[in-house]
Amino acid sequence: MNDFKGKTVIVTGAASGIGKSIAQSFAKKEANIVIADIDELNGKQLEQHMNQTGMNSLFIKTDVKKETEIKELITKSFEAFGAIDILINNAGISKFHSFFDLSVEMWEEVINTNLRSVFLCSREAAKLMKQGSCIINLSSTRAVMSESGTEAYSASKGGIAAITHAMASTLAEKGIRVNCISPRWIETGDYESLREVDHKQHFSGRVGKPDDIARTCLFLAHADNDFITGENITVDGGMTRKMIYEE
Ligand SMILES: NC(=O)c1ccc[n+]([C@@H]2O[C@H](COP(=O)([O-])OP(=O)(O)OC[C@H]3O[C@@H](n4cnc5c(N)ncnc54)[C@H](O)[C@@H]3O)[C@@H](O)[C@H]2O)c1
Repeated sequence: MNDFKGKTVIVTGAASGIGKSIAQSFAKKEANIVIADIDELNGKQLEQHMNQTGMNSLFIKTDVKKETEIKELITKSFEAFGAIDILINNAGISKFHSFFDLSVEMWEEVINTNLRSVFLCSREAAKLMKQGSCIINLSSTRAVMSESGTEAYSASKGGIAAITHAMASTLAEKGIRVNCISPRWIETGDYESLREVDHKQHFSGRVGKPDDIARTCLFLAHADNDFITGENITVDGGMTRKMIYEE
């Protein structure tokens, strides 16, 4: 039985990288896919490619920093497919700045793209979602560990982990589950160009791939896994569990 057939899945930031893999994975399960991205060129190309290969997708140009565009995204998605079953809040930017040069504008760009968007997309989608729907947010292991100069990004991802369990509590009464995924190194570029040392430093013996995250989304969204809510699942090949001493 195909459990996602005919379900409507909105994926933000789906024009490339991890979001594209998530969109394609649900599309292969015959879900209706809304590709929501600021990148019109790649978003439209993906829509065309998916629809030519028998999948059902709709690209809606969306800047997740803008509340009006998010409201339009949710309304248009509902009008097109008659329901919103799964929302994947994946859009994000990883911009790092020296702490003392970090301006309010730079801070707000990262926070509004990565974190405020999760609040706004979820609030608008949840108004229309029915019992059994779910929301999955992309956090990061940077919510719990750091390098210097990552304040805005780390704060945005820590905020995503926190808003995930807050929304899981609030939306439980509507029967909506909310979870998040914390990836670490997921290679969205040329996987073949990675070095042996890149792979070997992981317990898993390899760097992550977008499909690793897509499969976690399929798992979390599956109705059989409806006992999981408010959770943050780390998908990192074990890297966050690795104890490091410098020699
Ligand atoms: N790749 C990793 O190693 C990794 C690790 C931890 C967390 N993550 C998180 O996973 C998510 C996806 O990461 P990725 O590596 O695929 O990134 P990516 O840069 O490859 O893709 C991000 C997508 O989001 C879109 N986007 C950016 N700003 C937008 C906006 N304002 N409105 C709408 N769309 C916008 C981009 O156009 C792009 O299609 C992000 O939230 C990222 O923080 C990634």
